[in-house]
Amino acid sequence: MIMNKQKKIVIAIDGHSSSGKSTMAKDLARELGYVYIDTGAMYRAVTLYALRKGLIRDGKIDEAALEAALPDIHISFQFNAEAGRPDTYLNGEKVEREIRGMEVSDWVSPIAALGFVRRAMVEKQQAMGKEKGIVMDGRDIGTAVFPDAELKFFVTASPEVRAQRRLDELQAKGETVSYDEVLENVKKRDYIDSTRAESPLRQAPDALVLDNSHMTLAAQKAWLMRQVQLKMNN
Ligand code: DC
Repeated sequence: MIMNKQKKIVIAIDGHSSSGKSTMAKDLARELGYVYIDTGAMYRAVTLYALRKGLIRDGKIDEAALEAALPDIHISFQFNAEAGRPDTYLNGEKVEREIRGMEVSDWVSPIAALGFVRRAMVEKQQAMGKEKGIVMDGRDIGTAVFPDAELKFFVTASPEVRAQRRLDELQAKGETVSYDEVLENVKKRDYIDSTRAESPLRQAPDALVLDNSHMTLAAQKAWLMRQVQLKMNN
């Protein structure tokens, strides 16, 4: 691909869970030599911390204790060449696998809806993107974290297609869950993510929309690279 790689920009990718955002972000970052930040992994790491410390009990989050613990939660990323993407670390421990399980998935939306959690994460994310040359995926990147991002994508697919993708991923990791369970989790997260008071999942007015329900990965990648090329050579 011929493009002007001198100009470093911020690329924001938002969209629904399991819409393929992270695959797109990872591909783009590799292609451009950019840093890829998976902000969902950050909210997942906070959730894992809360679960491990017993801050979620009897179906309730101990918000005061979690807020007090925030300064003790250190999240970082280290590139894993084999996986071709960064691994997530929580207080120095690699937790990439732990944060993708069903228990964390069940609790991450309510945790990500907490204002004090969001403010802390957004601050970290803005610091990570200060030098540009970054592809960041999440729910509020183009609207709240980097409203001035040079390129914004909003990715979606039907809940059924997304549930099937998520089920395939979980089964590949040996988790035994049913399609119905995963579909319910996908719909529940969509609902919480889009209706929460703090930075709800919303399409930025200047985002390019991609519904990939019926698109192959190759077609999606070609479309994506074309958009980037147009932007970079502009
Ligand atoms: O992308 P994901 O499924 O790993 O995200 C996990 C949860 O975190 C999801 O319920 C939405 C939330 N999230 C968010 O609120 N803001 C972000 N920037 C990224 C994720």
